[in-house]
Amino acid sequence: MIKWLLLSYFFLLPLLADEPIVPIPLDEPIDIPKAKLGQELFFDTLLSRDNSTACVSCHDIYSGGADERSVSIGFNGAKGNIQAPTVLNARYNFKQFWNGRANTLLEQATGPLSNPTEHNMDPKKVQDRVSLSNKYKKMFKEVYGTYSITYELILDAIVEFENALTTPNAKFDKYLRGEIKLTHEEQEGYKLFKQYGCITCHNGINVGGNSFQKMGTFVAYNASTTFPDRSEITHNMEDINVFKVPTLRNIAKTAPYFHDASARTLKEALSVMSKHNLGIELSNQESDKIILFLETLSGEAPKILDTF
Ligand code: HEC
Ligand code: HEC
Repeated sequence: MIKWLLLSYFFLLPLLADEPIVPIPLDEPIDIPKAKLGQELFFDTLLSRDNSTACVSCHDIYSGGADERSVSIGFNGAKGNIQAPTVLNARYNFKQFWNGRANTLLEQATGPLSNPTEHNMDPKKVQDRVSLSNKYKKMFKEVYGTYSITYELILDAIVEFENALTTPNAKFDKYLRGEIKLTHEEQEGYKLFKQYGCITCHNGINVGGNSFQKMGTFVAYNASTTFPDRSEITHNMEDINVFKVPTLRNIAKTAPYFHDASARTLKEALSVMSKHNLGIELSNQESDKIILFLETLSGEAPKILDTF
């Protein structure tokens, strides 16, 4: 047995080592009733002070999971100061928020609820509002076996819904599993993505989401907005303009790009990335091929959205 394990390990290692991107698991264990309760909350404007805003207002999970507006609009029409990233596959990010100030989805979720430009609520208000609803009383009783709805349980349900927001079976994942072939141009795009070193920052299960990097490693980048970067957390000058590397999964559907939403198209984003973070200029052809590869990272809609 051990011999067999060792053998398969040494046999598989070089194969796996060749592929710095990992497919999304097909069957993540999800507590469906809990996730459905979380979905109800995610869509509910009851969770915002003026009943105007739900999580889904800024995270369009039917298309990419991000916000097509440059900055999000929340409570009382208040403008945020940073682009809303996607919630799809967020469970695979090593930290949450552009500057990684939340370690987990649970820690993250209290952010928007209390943010004065988002839901503008406090835990007690959220709890009281949800507790008044007969619909939620029934749902919480079914899922948690209690009529006593707490803020913690509300967050727990939202997080389970977010855990269910994965987009498996992207064309690229099927390719990695050996089920299909990429077109010649998609292959070439992937090759360039590796050759030029995009892969050094965008890799792993989320093709990003697993390290902090400077925006402007080679050529300084002047963002079009002020924003909380990593240095706000570490108070380290070296972390100015450092952000969590965003996921490139479903990237074809999450325009505009960058924390300051300065790129409207993938082509623009690639031109900025290659200049500022690699010190190179991509030809038109190269850029088109990389985009064809990036398009293979669009996955299936999360199963939970079709579950009733
Ligand atoms: C008014 C718009 C708005 C609303 C409402 C909103 N968000 Fe967000 N969300 C954002 C913005 C903007 C960010 C990025 C903020 C940052 O990084 O500093 C973000 C970040 C996130 C992230 C982190 C993703 C990542 O890759 O770092 C998650 C997860 C998330 N939101 C979930 C939620 C949930 C759950 C709710 C409801 C409780 C919610 N959001 C409500 C705008 C919004
Ligand atoms: C040194 C690390 C690094 C390298 C190399 C790198 N990136 Fe990035 N990438 C980042 C960071 C950090 C961001 C977020 C920057 C921001 O928003 O200010 C980002 C953002 C992006 C975005 C926008 C994502 C979004 O959701 O807004 C795309 C698309 C992208 N990169 C593609 C590429 C491609 C293609 C290459 C190779 C040509 C590449 N990157 C090379 C670190 C890197």
